[in-house]
Amino acid sequence: MIGYMGGRRLLDSYGRVADDLRISITDRCNFRCIYCMPAEGLKWLARDDLLRFEEITRLARIFVQRYGVRTIRITGGEPLVRIKVEELVGMINAIDPTLDITMTTNGVLLRDKAQKLAEAGLKRINISLDTLHADRFHEIARADMFARTMDGIEAAREAGLWPIKLNMVVMQGHNDDEVVDFARLAREKGYEVRFIEFMPLDGDNIWTNEQVVPSRRIQEQIEDLFPLEPVKDTRPGPATRFKFADGRPGGVGFISSVSQAFCTTCNRVRLTAEGGLRTCLFSLNETPLRDLMRSGVSDERIGSVIETAIWHKEEGHLINKPGFIKPAKNMSQIGG
Ligand code: GTP
Ligand code: 5AD
Ligand code: SF4
Repeated sequence: MIGYMGGRRLLDSYGRVADDLRISITDRCNFRCIYCMPAEGLKWLARDDLLRFEEITRLARIFVQRYGVRTIRITGGEPLVRIKVEELVGMINAIDPTLDITMTTNGVLLRDKAQKLAEAGLKRINISLDTLHADRFHEIARADMFARTMDGIEAAREAGLWPIKLNMVVMQGHNDDEVVDFARLAREKGYEVRFIEFMPLDGDNIWTNEQVVPSRRIQEQIEDLFPLEPVKDTRPGPATRFKFADGRPGGVGFISSVSQAFCTTCNRVRLTAEGGLRTCLFSLNETPLRDLMRSGVSDERIGSVIETAIWHKEEGHLINKPGFIKPAKNMSQIGG
């Protein structure tokens, strides 16, 4: 397989280059996290409406070979509920084995899947974990799966999926009293724990600004015990990252989408499970690629539709500003 031939990039009208592709492969999930999905679930997409693995791989190849995308993240819903997801990882890896192929998962199926994913070419993994208490876990994820999730994290480590990042959505009154415990866990196990501000992408319309715990507050609490040192990143990303000043392994990151939006450096583009191209988490519309692909058009044509869509990428989100409109889709339908 040939890699990026050089030349074309996916540029938007604000001068940003999209080189980080996030592919949602299912809208289904085995959890119902309160910040993401309604308790009763959602109306799932029909099987025929989902992109097939061949279709996902074709789009991934276009992004990689024509436009120099280097990072591909597989998301859901919960990506591990899609049957034989490891085969898809292998297909994407075959495009270019040096790609940074990653996954964001709730971790509960990793005991069975971690080794297969690693063998197929997954490089590293991000796992959601919002609490270290089993009863709270049950309340937040609305699934009694704490022990299995913790075991899944261990399985990922055993399979060599490293570094492991843990994603904690911090919500006032739900788990904000655990941030120091998470920093301690990071130090003990060498994980990077990322504290994420709750965004208005939940399925129950429960988001209020009062429930957002600003990163600055969390950082202060952690630094009272464990002084931090900034980590300089070569690639843009949503997290402001720190290591522990005393040299202990692991680290923490803050994803301050609400208090300090990072849209000006956003290099992301998303594909939904039904093949919609989204230029922002908060996009109000998508560019549908599935039916275009199924109508038999060339890569050239698909490429030009992608280029146009990216050119029109939003300047950024308007959370807490006049004019903010919550997208019709929630996080599980977009992919995080
Ligand atoms: P790496 O740092 O490369 O591991 O990737 P990542 O941090 O993007 O991965 P992950 O999927 O774990 O994302 C963590 C969280 O960041 C997501 O769950 C979202 O809450 C948030 N996030 C990711 N992308 C965006 C984005 O484009 N905009 C905003 N506002 N938040 C984002
Ligand atoms: N706000 C912020 N992050 C969210 N996630 C899901 N819903 C939200 C939200 N409303 C994150 C979870 C998970 C990833 C898929 O998205 O932490 O790791
Ligand atoms: Fe599922 Fe992830 Fe949404 Fe939780 S955050 S309900 S694990 S898709």
